[in-house]
Amino acid sequence: MNATILSNSEKHYPVLLKEILSIISPQNGGTFIDCTFGQGGYSKEFLKFNKTKVIAIDRDHESSVIANQIRQQHKDQFSFFIKKFSEIDKIKIENSKIKAVIFDLGCSYTQIKDPKKGLSFESKGALDMRLGLNNFSADDVINKLSQKDLELIFKYFGEEKDSKIISKKIVNQRVKSNLNTQQLVSIINSVKKKGGRTNNATKIFQAIRIFVNKEISELIYGLIKSAKILDIDGKLCVVSFHSLEDRIVKYFFKSLSEDKKISRYIPEAQNQNKLFKLDLKKPIYPGSKEINSNRPSRSAKLRYAIKKNNLVDFERDFLKKFSKLLEIENLSKKL
Ligand SMILES: C[S@@+](CC[C@H](N)C(=O)[O-])C[C@H]1O[C@@H](n2cnc3c(N)ncnc32)[C@H](O)[C@@H]1O
Repeated sequence: MNATILSNSEKHYPVLLKEILSIISPQNGGTFIDCTFGQGGYSKEFLKFNKTKVIAIDRDHESSVIANQIRQQHKDQFSFFIKKFSEIDKIKIENSKIKAVIFDLGCSYTQIKDPKKGLSFESKGALDMRLGLNNFSADDVINKLSQKDLELIFKYFGEEKDSKIISKKIVNQRVKSNLNTQQLVSIINSVKKKGGRTNNATKIFQAIRIFVNKEISELIYGLIKSAKILDIDGKLCVVSFHSLEDRIVKYFFKSLSEDKKISRYIPEAQNQNKLFKLDLKKPIYPGSKEINSNRPSRSAKLRYAIKKNNLVDFERDFLKKFSKLLEIENLSKKL
Protein backbone atom coordinates (compact mmCIF):
# COMPACT_ATOMS: atom_id res chain seq x y z
CA MET A 1 0.00 0.00 0.00
CA ASN A 2 1.30 3.45 -0.84
CA ALA A 3 0.93 5.28 2.43
CA THR A 4 1.05 8.67 0.69
CA ILE A 5 -2.36 8.18 -0.95
CA LEU A 6 -4.29 7.30 2.16
CA SER A 7 -7.48 9.19 2.88
CA ASN A 8 -7.32 11.35 6.02
CA SER A 9 -9.64 8.97 7.85
CA GLU A 10 -7.00 6.22 7.46
CA LYS A 11 -3.98 8.38 8.21
CA HIS A 12 -2.00 7.85 11.41
CA TYR A 13 -1.44 10.97 13.51
CA PRO A 14 1.59 10.86 15.82
CA VAL A 15 0.54 10.71 19.46
CA LEU A 16 1.95 12.96 22.23
CA LEU A 17 4.46 14.41 19.75
CA LYS A 18 4.72 17.85 21.38
CA GLU A 19 5.44 16.23 24.74
CA ILE A 20 8.10 13.93 23.28
CA LEU A 21 9.84 16.84 21.53
CA SER A 22 9.99 18.79 24.77
CA ILE A 23 11.55 15.80 26.59
CA ILE A 24 14.22 14.91 24.02
CA SER A 25 14.98 18.43 22.60
CA PRO A 26 16.02 17.49 19.04
CA GLN A 27 16.73 21.17 18.33
CA ASN A 28 20.00 20.68 20.25
CA GLY A 29 21.17 17.95 17.85
CA GLY A 30 22.20 14.37 18.60
CA THR A 31 21.35 10.85 17.49
CA PHE A 32 17.85 9.47 18.17
CA ILE A 33 16.50 5.98 17.69
CA ASP A 34 12.85 5.80 16.60
CA CYS A 35 12.05 2.16 17.39
CA THR A 36 8.54 2.28 15.92
CA PHE A 37 8.91 4.35 12.74
CA GLY A 38 5.39 3.60 11.39
CA GLN A 39 4.37 6.49 9.15
CA GLY A 40 7.43 8.46 10.23
CA GLY A 41 5.40 10.89 12.33
CA TYR A 42 8.12 11.28 14.97
CA SER A 43 11.19 10.84 12.74
CA LYS A 44 10.08 13.61 10.35
CA GLU A 45 9.84 16.06 13.24
CA PHE A 46 13.25 15.10 14.67
CA LEU A 47 14.81 15.57 11.23
CA LYS A 48 13.62 19.16 10.95
CA PHE A 49 16.81 20.12 12.80
CA ASN A 50 20.02 19.90 10.73
CA LYS A 51 22.15 18.65 13.59
CA THR A 52 20.00 15.60 14.35
CA LYS A 53 20.50 12.05 13.14
CA VAL A 54 17.70 9.49 13.23
CA ILE A 55 18.05 5.72 13.19
CA ALA A 56 14.57 4.30 12.55
CA ILE A 57 13.27 0.74 12.92
CA ASP A 58 10.00 -0.96 12.02
CA ARG A 59 9.03 -4.61 11.58
CA ASP A 60 6.47 -3.79 8.87
CA HIS A 61 7.94 -3.82 5.33
CA GLU A 62 5.31 -1.29 4.25
CA SER A 63 6.99 1.35 6.41
CA SER A 64 9.88 1.41 3.96
CA VAL A 65 7.76 3.36 1.43
CA ILE A 66 7.79 6.45 3.64
CA ALA A 67 11.29 5.70 4.95
CA ASN A 68 12.64 5.77 1.37
CA GLN A 69 11.02 9.15 0.75
CA ILE A 70 12.59 10.54 3.91
CA ARG A 71 15.98 9.06 2.99
CA GLN A 72 15.98 11.00 -0.27
CA GLN A 73 15.55 14.28 1.59
CA HIS A 74 17.86 13.55 4.53
CA LYS A 75 20.53 11.24 3.13
CA ASP A 76 23.19 11.94 5.75
CA GLN A 77 20.81 12.24 8.67
CA PHE A 78 18.54 9.22 8.35
CA SER A 79 18.89 5.44 8.28
CA PHE A 80 16.10 2.86 8.35
CA PHE A 81 16.02 -0.84 9.20
CA ILE A 82 13.28 -3.45 8.82
CA LYS A 83 13.86 -5.12 12.16
CA LYS A 84 12.16 -5.99 15.40
CA PHE A 85 13.14 -3.60 18.15
CA SER A 86 14.11 -6.53 20.40
CA GLU A 87 17.09 -6.76 18.02
CA ILE A 88 18.13 -3.13 18.42
CA ASP A 89 21.56 -4.32 19.60
CA LYS A 90 22.20 -5.86 16.15
CA ILE A 91 22.12 -2.45 14.46
CA LYS A 92 25.52 -0.93 13.80
CA ILE A 93 25.70 2.42 15.51
CA GLU A 94 28.89 4.07 14.36
CA ASN A 95 30.48 6.70 16.58
CA SER A 96 27.11 7.86 17.83
CA LYS A 97 26.12 8.68 21.34
CA ILE A 98 22.44 7.89 21.60
CA LYS A 99 20.54 10.81 23.06
CA ALA A 100 17.11 9.16 23.14
CA VAL A 101 15.34 5.94 22.25
CA ILE A 102 11.63 6.30 21.54
CA PHE A 103 8.91 3.64 21.43
CA ASP A 104 5.33 4.31 20.29
CA LEU A 105 3.96 0.83 20.92
CA GLY A 106 1.36 -1.28 19.14
CA CYS A 107 0.21 -0.61 15.62
CA SER A 108 -0.66 2.46 13.61
CA TYR A 109 -4.16 3.45 12.61
CA THR A 110 -3.11 2.80 9.01
CA GLN A 111 -2.24 -0.81 9.89
CA ILE A 112 -5.54 -1.31 11.72
CA LYS A 113 -7.44 -0.05 8.68
CA ASP A 114 -5.46 -2.28 6.28
CA PRO A 115 -7.77 -5.24 5.54
CA LYS A 116 -4.79 -7.45 4.56
CA LYS A 117 -3.43 -7.32 8.12
CA GLY A 118 -6.72 -8.52 9.65
CA LEU A 119 -6.09 -6.59 12.87
CA SER A 120 -9.60 -5.28 13.28
CA PHE A 121 -12.69 -7.20 14.36
CA GLU A 122 -14.38 -5.47 11.42
CA SER A 123 -12.04 -7.22 8.94
CA LYS A 124 -13.50 -9.69 6.49
CA GLY A 125 -11.81 -13.01 5.76
CA ALA A 126 -8.99 -15.02 7.31
CA LEU A 127 -7.46 -14.18 10.65
CA ASP A 128 -3.94 -12.78 10.35
CA MET A 129 -2.65 -9.94 12.61
CA ARG A 130 1.01 -10.23 11.58
CA LEU A 131 2.75 -6.85 11.73
CA GLY A 132 5.85 -8.21 9.98
CA LEU A 133 8.75 -10.64 10.58
CA ASN A 134 6.41 -13.20 12.22
CA ASN A 135 6.59 -16.98 12.38
CA PHE A 136 2.84 -17.69 12.62
CA SER A 137 -0.51 -15.92 12.20
CA ALA A 138 -3.74 -15.48 14.18
CA ASP A 139 -5.23 -18.20 11.99
CA ASP A 140 -2.63 -20.66 13.35
CA VAL A 141 -3.31 -19.58 16.94
CA ILE A 142 -7.11 -19.84 16.80
CA ASN A 143 -7.28 -22.98 14.71
CA LYS A 144 -4.35 -25.01 16.06
CA LEU A 145 -3.70 -24.34 19.75
CA SER A 146 -5.52 -26.31 22.46
CA GLN A 147 -8.46 -24.97 24.47
CA LYS A 148 -6.28 -24.60 27.58
CA ASP A 149 -3.60 -22.66 25.69
CA LEU A 150 -6.19 -20.30 24.17
CA GLU A 151 -7.72 -19.75 27.59
CA LEU A 152 -4.34 -18.75 29.04
CA ILE A 153 -3.60 -16.39 26.15
CA PHE A 154 -7.00 -14.66 26.48
CA LYS A 155 -6.72 -14.47 30.26
CA TYR A 156 -3.17 -13.13 30.55
CA PHE A 157 -2.83 -11.05 27.38
CA GLY A 158 -6.43 -9.83 27.14
CA GLU A 159 -7.45 -9.88 30.82
CA GLU A 160 -10.70 -11.39 29.48
CA LYS A 161 -12.88 -12.83 32.25
CA ASP A 162 -14.79 -15.12 29.86
CA SER A 163 -11.59 -16.76 28.56
CA LYS A 164 -12.62 -20.30 29.44
CA ILE A 165 -16.03 -20.32 27.81
CA ILE A 166 -14.86 -18.44 24.70
CA SER A 167 -11.93 -20.83 24.20
CA LYS A 168 -14.24 -23.85 24.64
CA LYS A 169 -16.63 -22.53 22.00
CA ILE A 170 -13.76 -21.86 19.60
CA VAL A 171 -12.48 -25.42 19.89
CA ASN A 172 -15.99 -26.87 19.42
CA GLN A 173 -16.79 -24.77 16.38
CA ARG A 174 -13.49 -25.06 14.51
CA VAL A 175 -14.05 -28.82 14.03
CA LYS A 176 -15.99 -28.23 10.77
CA SER A 177 -13.58 -25.74 9.19
CA ASN A 178 -11.01 -23.11 10.18
CA LEU A 179 -12.61 -20.10 11.84
CA ASN A 180 -12.30 -16.71 10.16
CA THR A 181 -12.50 -13.23 11.70
CA GLN A 182 -16.27 -12.87 11.49
CA GLN A 183 -16.87 -16.34 12.94
CA LEU A 184 -14.58 -15.53 15.86
CA VAL A 185 -16.46 -12.27 16.47
CA SER A 186 -19.79 -14.18 16.43
CA ILE A 187 -18.50 -16.63 19.04
CA ILE A 188 -17.38 -13.79 21.31
CA ASN A 189 -20.73 -11.99 20.87
CA SER A 190 -22.63 -15.18 21.67
CA VAL A 191 -20.86 -15.35 25.05
CA LYS A 192 -20.79 -11.72 26.06
CA LYS A 193 -23.73 -9.44 26.80
CA LYS A 194 -24.18 -6.44 24.51
CA GLY A 195 -23.54 -2.97 25.83
CA GLY A 196 -20.58 -1.20 27.36
CA ARG A 197 -18.39 1.35 25.70
CA THR A 198 -15.91 -1.03 24.10
CA ASN A 199 -16.61 -3.69 21.51
CA ASN A 200 -17.09 -7.21 22.95
CA ALA A 201 -14.20 -8.50 20.85
CA THR A 202 -11.62 -5.87 21.91
CA LYS A 203 -9.88 -7.90 24.63
CA ILE A 204 -9.71 -11.17 22.71
CA PHE A 205 -8.36 -9.41 19.61
CA GLN A 206 -5.78 -7.58 21.74
CA ALA A 207 -4.69 -10.89 23.28
CA ILE A 208 -4.26 -12.58 19.90
CA ARG A 209 -2.33 -9.62 18.44
CA ILE A 210 0.02 -9.57 21.44
CA PHE A 211 0.62 -13.32 21.10
CA VAL A 212 1.09 -13.33 17.30
CA ASN A 213 3.60 -10.46 17.43
CA LYS A 214 5.28 -11.61 20.67
CA GLU A 215 4.69 -8.13 21.99
CA ILE A 216 5.63 -9.01 25.58
CA SER A 217 9.15 -10.23 24.86
CA GLU A 218 9.56 -7.54 22.21
CA LEU A 219 8.85 -4.87 24.81
CA ILE A 220 10.87 -6.49 27.60
CA TYR A 221 14.00 -7.04 25.48
CA GLY A 222 13.48 -3.75 23.61
CA LEU A 223 13.62 -1.88 26.93
CA ILE A 224 16.60 -3.81 28.31
CA LYS A 225 18.67 -3.42 25.15
CA SER A 226 17.76 0.26 24.69
CA ALA A 227 18.85 1.00 28.24
CA LYS A 228 22.24 -0.55 27.41
CA ILE A 229 22.64 1.40 24.16
CA LEU A 230 21.70 4.83 25.57
CA ASP A 231 24.37 7.34 26.45
CA ILE A 232 24.55 8.69 30.02
CA ASP A 233 21.82 11.34 30.43
CA GLY A 234 20.04 9.85 27.41
CA LYS A 235 16.25 9.47 27.60
CA LEU A 236 14.18 6.33 27.15
CA CYS A 237 10.61 7.33 26.14
CA VAL A 238 7.72 4.91 25.81
CA VAL A 239 4.15 5.56 24.66
CA SER A 240 1.91 2.62 25.62
CA PHE A 241 -1.75 1.94 24.87
CA HIS A 242 -2.96 -0.70 27.29
CA SER A 243 -2.48 -1.64 30.92
CA LEU A 244 -0.32 -4.70 30.27
CA GLU A 245 2.25 -2.65 28.34
CA ASP A 246 2.16 0.16 30.88
CA ARG A 247 2.66 -2.24 33.78
CA ILE A 248 5.86 -3.54 32.18
CA VAL A 249 7.22 -0.06 31.38
CA LYS A 250 6.31 1.30 34.82
CA TYR A 251 8.00 -1.59 36.63
CA PHE A 252 11.14 -1.34 34.49
CA PHE A 253 11.54 2.37 35.16
CA LYS A 254 10.53 2.42 38.82
CA SER A 255 12.44 -0.66 39.97
CA LEU A 256 15.64 0.59 38.35
CA SER A 257 15.52 4.22 39.37
CA GLU A 258 16.67 6.34 42.29
CA ASP A 259 14.24 6.60 45.14
CA LYS A 260 13.83 10.27 46.02
CA LYS A 261 12.18 9.49 49.34
CA ILE A 262 14.75 6.97 50.44
CA SER A 263 15.20 6.38 54.16
CA ARG A 264 18.25 7.86 55.88
CA TYR A 265 19.04 4.34 57.11
CA ILE A 266 19.79 3.12 53.59
CA PRO A 267 23.35 3.93 52.48
CA GLU A 268 23.37 6.79 49.96
CA ALA A 269 25.65 4.93 47.56
CA GLN A 270 23.01 2.23 47.17
CA ASN A 271 20.55 4.82 45.89
CA GLN A 272 22.93 6.73 43.64
CA ASN A 273 24.12 3.70 41.75
CA LYS A 274 20.82 3.21 39.92
CA LEU A 275 20.31 2.83 36.20
CA PHE A 276 17.71 5.60 35.83
CA LYS A 277 16.49 8.83 37.27
CA LEU A 278 12.80 9.68 36.85
CA ASP A 279 11.60 13.28 36.52
CA LEU A 280 7.99 12.17 36.88
CA LYS A 281 6.50 9.16 38.63
CA LYS A 282 3.14 9.52 36.89
CA PRO A 283 2.63 9.09 33.14
CA ILE A 284 1.89 11.96 30.75
CA TYR A 285 -1.53 11.79 29.02
CA PRO A 286 -2.74 13.55 25.86
CA GLY A 287 -4.75 16.70 26.50
CA SER A 288 -8.42 17.05 25.52
CA LYS A 289 -7.45 18.99 22.36
CA GLU A 290 -5.33 16.07 21.09
CA ILE A 291 -7.97 13.50 22.06
CA ASN A 292 -10.69 15.46 20.23
CA SER A 293 -8.66 15.72 17.05
CA ASN A 294 -7.20 12.18 17.20
CA ARG A 295 -9.48 9.67 18.95
CA PRO A 296 -6.94 6.78 18.98
CA SER A 297 -4.72 8.91 21.25
CA ARG A 298 -7.21 8.65 24.13
CA SER A 299 -5.63 5.56 25.68
CA ALA A 300 -2.01 6.70 25.27
CA LYS A 301 0.37 7.07 28.23
CA LEU A 302 3.90 8.40 27.97
CA ARG A 303 6.61 7.52 30.48
CA TYR A 304 10.29 8.37 30.27
CA ALA A 305 13.45 7.71 32.24
CA ILE A 306 16.91 9.30 32.15
CA LYS A 307 19.89 6.96 32.13
CA LYS A 308 22.34 7.77 34.92
CA ASN A 309 24.75 4.84 35.12
CA ASN A 310 26.22 2.16 32.89
CA LEU A 311 25.21 -0.99 34.76
CA VAL A 312 25.52 -4.61 33.67
CA ASP A 313 23.22 -7.44 34.61
CA PHE A 314 20.39 -5.17 35.79
CA GLU A 315 17.67 -7.17 34.03
CA ARG A 316 17.45 -10.26 36.22
CA ASP A 317 14.65 -9.09 38.54
CA PHE A 318 12.72 -7.54 35.63
CA LEU A 319 12.77 -10.81 33.67
CA LYS A 320 11.70 -12.74 36.77
CA LYS A 321 8.83 -10.36 37.47
CA PHE A 322 7.28 -11.03 34.03
CA SER A 323 8.32 -14.66 33.64
CA LYS A 324 4.71 -15.91 33.64
CA LEU A 325 3.88 -13.74 30.61
CA LEU A 326 7.04 -14.89 28.82
CA GLU A 327 6.08 -18.50 29.58
CA ILE A 328 2.66 -17.99 27.97
CA GLU A 329 4.27 -16.40 24.92
CA ASN A 330 6.35 -19.58 24.61
CA LEU A 331 3.20 -21.61 23.95
CA SER A 332 3.85 -20.52 20.35
CA LYS A 333 6.64 -23.11 20.21
CA LYS A 334 3.85 -25.65 19.67
CA LEU A 335 2.96 -24.02 16.34
C1 LIG B 1 1.88 3.22 16.78
S1 LIG B 1 2.81 2.87 15.38
C2 LIG B 1 4.04 4.12 15.37
C3 LIG B 1 3.65 5.36 14.65
C4 LIG B 1 4.74 6.38 14.52
N1 LIG B 1 5.19 6.90 15.80
C5 LIG B 1 4.27 7.54 13.67
O1 LIG B 1 4.05 8.63 14.22
O2 LIG B 1 4.07 7.36 12.47
C6 LIG B 1 3.73 1.49 15.86
C7 LIG B 1 4.69 0.97 14.81
O3 LIG B 1 5.59 0.09 15.47
C8 LIG B 1 5.81 -1.03 14.67
N2 LIG B 1 6.17 -2.11 15.58
C9 LIG B 1 5.38 -2.74 16.48
N3 LIG B 1 6.08 -3.66 17.16
C10 LIG B 1 7.35 -3.61 16.70
C11 LIG B 1 8.55 -4.31 17.01
N4 LIG B 1 8.57 -5.25 17.94
N5 LIG B 1 9.67 -4.00 16.33
C12 LIG B 1 9.66 -3.03 15.37
N6 LIG B 1 8.55 -2.34 15.03
C13 LIG B 1 7.42 -2.61 15.68
C14 LIG B 1 4.51 -1.26 13.95
O4 LIG B 1 4.73 -1.99 12.75
C15 LIG B 1 4.04 0.16 13.71
O5 LIG B 1 4.44 0.63 12.46
